[in-house]
Amino acid sequence: MKHFAFAALVILGLAALGFFALGQVQYLPPQASLQAQTIDSLFRLEFGIIVILFALIVGLMLYSILVFRRKKGDTSDGPHIEGNTRLEVFWTIAPLAIVLYLAYLGSVGLGDITRAAARPLEVNVIGSQWSWRFEYPDYGVISTELVLPVDRQALLHLSSTDVIHSFWVPEFRLKQDALPGGDKFVRDLRVTPNQLGEYKVRCAELCGLNHALMESPVKVVPADMFEAWIKIQNAALSDDPAVRGQQWATQFACASCHSFDGAPKVGPTWKGIFGSQELLTDGTRVPVEYSYLYKSIRDPGAQIVKGYENVVMPPTIAAGMSEEQVNDVIALIESLK
Ligand code: CUA
Repeated sequence: MKHFAFAALVILGLAALGFFALGQVQYLPPQASLQAQTIDSLFRLEFGIIVILFALIVGLMLYSILVFRRKKGDTSDGPHIEGNTRLEVFWTIAPLAIVLYLAYLGSVGLGDITRAAARPLEVNVIGSQWSWRFEYPDYGVISTELVLPVDRQALLHLSSTDVIHSFWVPEFRLKQDALPGGDKFVRDLRVTPNQLGEYKVRCAELCGLNHALMESPVKVVPADMFEAWIKIQNAALSDDPAVRGQQWATQFACASCHSFDGAPKVGPTWKGIFGSQELLTDGTRVPVEYSYLYKSIRDPGAQIVKGYENVVMPPTIAAGMSEEQVNDVIALIESLK
């Protein structure tokens, strides 16, 4: 009995130390959504249970190692212990009860974070190697940054134009895959941002060469600033096709692989390309003019420039572009002397 009392002291000491350490470490980023509260309360509960289990196991182990270690010269066997039904029933029932309780809390939490609010803001989130595009169908806006009004639920419809990506804003605590394959594979994610600020969406699914760079800004703004931002986006169309082309090149993520200034990127730079001759993988040379560029945008795999064989532009990337938008992008390329 004396041993139990001392072992209990070691366990309590370790648990106190564990809870103190847990209080000192900021193991989660700031909380910026309604859903994050539910998830964090589960996280805290589970960390608490982990600390108690750690203290119980490591405490008993340390105590046994120190107190019951073999004395010098003692070569006799330890006592033979044959089963203990009460103990076995206890250590089966107790973890089962804990796991069932956690499963119950988990399903209640899942219900909480997926609950639909009235009038959510719908945003189509489209992942492509290696950028994000955000479409606001109710406003006719396409953007490379996700701007959300504070305290209003956003209903994100996630999809991909090529491989599997994963939408993750750590401050929102939510993560959901963006799958290719069309309407059947669109996945929804509801998030109610409740802290003004600037965050970042990252891709959380290894998706190729520039996976680590697949980040976009996320801005949570007051409702009136959101309305103002929508107005600016709608008014931003220029009369100059090259200026519009620049806007499309950013929105459709052309610019993440093709530079405008001659810098090397995943794809050929656009600077000075118009009017030049490109050497293709089959050894032929083609003049870079309208029809070559049009074909390269609509059917990127047809003619590949020598040296760029390894990374082929996904044919679907420009699928959402209108004829006018393609023409504007070609006008932009022509203007980059
Ligand atoms: Cu997209 Cu990783």
